[in-house]
Amino acid sequence: MNVYDSDRMLDLVNKKYFLVSSPDKADAILLNTCHIREKAAEKVYSEIGKYAYLKDNNKKLKIIVAGCVAQAEGKAMLQRQPVIDAIVGPQMYQILPDILLDKLNNKKIFLDFDEEKKFKKLGYDRKKALISSFITIQEGCDKFCSFCVVPFTRGSEFSRNLDDIVQEAISLTDKGCKEIILLGQNVNAYHGTTKRNSQASLAQLILELEKIKKLDRVSYTTSHPKDMTQDLIELHGNSKKLNPYLHLPVQSGSDLILKNMNRRYTTKEYLDIIEKIRKKVPNIALSSDFIVGFPGETIKDFKDTLKLVKEVKFAQSYSFKYSKRIGTKAYNINCNLSEEEKDDRLQELQSLLNDQKKCFNKSFLEKEVEVFLKGKGKKENQYRGTTKWMQTAIFECNKNKVGEKVKLRINKAFENCLMGELL
Ligand code: 5AD
Ligand code: SF4
Repeated sequence: MNVYDSDRMLDLVNKKYFLVSSPDKADAILLNTCHIREKAAEKVYSEIGKYAYLKDNNKKLKIIVAGCVAQAEGKAMLQRQPVIDAIVGPQMYQILPDILLDKLNNKKIFLDFDEEKKFKKLGYDRKKALISSFITIQEGCDKFCSFCVVPFTRGSEFSRNLDDIVQEAISLTDKGCKEIILLGQNVNAYHGTTKRNSQASLAQLILELEKIKKLDRVSYTTSHPKDMTQDLIELHGNSKKLNPYLHLPVQSGSDLILKNMNRRYTTKEYLDIIEKIRKKVPNIALSSDFIVGFPGETIKDFKDTLKLVKEVKFAQSYSFKYSKRIGTKAYNINCNLSEEEKDDRLQELQSLLNDQKKCFNKSFLEKEVEVFLKGKGKKENQYRGTTKWMQTAIFECNKNKVGEKVKLRINKAFENCLMGELL
């Protein structure tokens, strides 16, 4: 979502500002930040430290911190780093042009939650489109998982109007976009209003988007198991444009840990959803987030997570060591595990998940797949794109085809990518 936000920030200021290749050439440095885990948040301070000296040579230079670290730390950030010119929360960045034009009487902190106003100001006209582009359709979260800062940093659940989203999708597809990834912290809790003032679900929104002729693929992330409604599951079976990919974080395979995380489902309920969706789309790429070392996690709880992973067989995954976040319910629960124990568990889990990713990718060997080209690869004449299962695919070509769709025959499969030859 920060990628989407950063693009929209650029859209807002693009009449007066443009991207430069290095910080020393900039008149404004904008750090868009993430607060989800401690490591991500700490990075911000070391980054700001790197830019502070640039003000000696450029008196005009403004350093602005946006995003969830700005929201969470607020005034404390200014005290720790007085070099910052403005602190802007994720629901207030529509104010950026005014900050850059010094229109705000030295006010430096902007932390209101006014999504309605923000999206109104952003509008739906996109200045730049990639073959695969993001659209935020929902923000914030009312679930309050006991480990998570999102309900505090992004605010409560908000859904954009269906028609604004469709207009934004048309603006992107008119500029060459062929795949749209719908974003929300709780994207399947989407319930936007329509022109007729009725409420639309995520499945209804996707059906509307499918009517756009130039659009080939749709995906959505991140979903909560509790909001995996029947109409959405059905749509996976019926849709012509929905990617065979589902990111559905389970976090843990232990019912007790799930309860203490306040996830509001059991492992059985999670597995039932997986079974239903696999019945509709047998070759779907399933993806999940995992947290190891949540306070109270015993070796039995951890083994239950491994058991669930073995049962589901994920094609993609993101796994993290539990990170204590101020303000969350779990913050005050003492952790029973040493860092070393958490590291060992993470390693064991990741090794299993990596084997599963490799196994999923290997099932594509010798197959022909369509790939949307997103950019250049690491080597000369190498390009990279994605399949509709959201795998990265790499191939060699003498012509730059970024932004196009191509067909590859897959001849190598690794944990994190496929390699193929252009057909
Ligand atoms: N510690 C570790 N991982 C976390 N996540 C969210 N909060 C924490 C935390 N406090 C992970 C979850 C979530 C993903 C976006 O980040 O797995 O799904
Ligand atoms: Fe955080 Fe997701 Fe839980 Fe919401 S549902 S509190 S965003 S982990």
